[in-house]
Amino acid sequence: MSTFSAPKGTYDLIPPESAQFLAVREAFSAPLRRAGYGYVETPGFEQTGLFSRGVGESTDIVTKEMYTLTTRGGDELALRPEGTASVLRAALQAGLHRGALPAKLWYSGSYYRYERPQAGRYRHFSQVGAEALGAEDPALDAELIILAADAFRALGLRQVRLLLNSLGDKECRPAYRAALQDFLRALDLDEDTRRRIEINPLRVLDDKRESVQQQLTGAPMMRDHLCEGCKAYHEQVRELLTAAGVAFEDDPRLVRGLDYYTRTTFEFVHDGLGSQSAVGGGGRYDGLSEMIGGPELPSVGWALGVDRTVLALRAEDVAPQTPAGAQVFAVPLGEDARRALFAAVTELRREGVAADFAYGGKGMKNAMKSANRSGARFALVLGDRDLAEGVVQLKDLESGEQSPVPLERVVAAVRAKLG
Ligand code: HAM
Repeated sequence: MSTFSAPKGTYDLIPPESAQFLAVREAFSAPLRRAGYGYVETPGFEQTGLFSRGVGESTDIVTKEMYTLTTRGGDELALRPEGTASVLRAALQAGLHRGALPAKLWYSGSYYRYERPQAGRYRHFSQVGAEALGAEDPALDAELIILAADAFRALGLRQVRLLLNSLGDKECRPAYRAALQDFLRALDLDEDTRRRIEINPLRVLDDKRESVQQQLTGAPMMRDHLCEGCKAYHEQVRELLTAAGVAFEDDPRLVRGLDYYTRTTFEFVHDGLGSQSAVGGGGRYDGLSEMIGGPELPSVGWALGVDRTVLALRAEDVAPQTPAGAQVFAVPLGEDARRALFAAVTELRREGVAADFAYGGKGMKNAMKSANRSGARFALVLGDRDLAEGVVQLKDLESGEQSPVPLERVVAAVRAKLG
């Protein structure tokens, strides 16, 4: 242990568990690549204004959770709390909106929110995200939702549920908002919540407190106020999901914690995670581009939480397929053997065989322990007498069988054994 430890609300990824994180990232991103999404990477920090304008002045993310700093040069920067605003900013800056649309992009990285840490809620966490920019097409919303649902299934998760809602658009939302405000103003609510009614009344529906939820029975719901366009759009998304065999639950109270959503909104929740149950979420954000000074660019996307998905796998006792380690582990006995076997390992690696080596001049017993722990199928054991005879012992670590193979034909011999 050193004097320092990982900051509060963060943790390190250490082998062997770290392999699960890589497996989850791969399970989320491989289907996106196959569906035509191109990789995008943006800086870990942006101008603070991008998030306050994009994510929303009244959201918890902007008011309480951003890591902000003023640089020596006087720039106001924030560690990115989410990816959508950054990706849209990058796409606009690169002029992607003037090319073929939709521009389909995926990303994977670290995000930062100054939240109260608890199981499944961290100050540094990891997302894989996808954004489809510049098209208004229910099939695009459905594509993204299906890709995410299938990715959770492919990982072996069975307890992920999909919640679906529509938040309307600039045509029908204002009237609904006013109706909801009228309803909420008549309730018995604290000062903070009263303020929220005026800034973003929809967020009150999302209040987790029992005392608030009880009063919300009978609140007007967006789904009863959708305009014809939004209603038809939402119906198409639902039909496409049903046709694809993706189960969903209509959740008229789903509003999400970011202000940019319009029309389709959804969340994937896992029932084995306690209060931090959302393993991913997203939706359409047709007005975000204009909010950050860009042209009209209707878009849709999602981000899936890697940390929570790993927790979900553990909760369901599912082990994701992780990449294999070394296939062969080399154990030299003596200085000359060490040199010869190191050369053999280098050659094996160059020929594409995953190989590892007993470093640190361990004795036979400890070296064989390392070989067994490595998960390799075979050990190559080389002593002075073998070396004199120009052979190396190839030992099957499962059966314990061992046979000498000529040193200069070690690659071919190992290959033949590995099949
Ligand atoms: P979000 O719902 O804020 O959406 O985050 C997406 C996922 O990231 C969550 O469902 C959760 O799994 C994970 N996550 C969020 N905060 C934490 C945390 N403190 N600790 C651990 N995991 C966390 C967005 O970020 C939007 N940008 C999604 C989106 C993309 N919408 C449209 N495009």
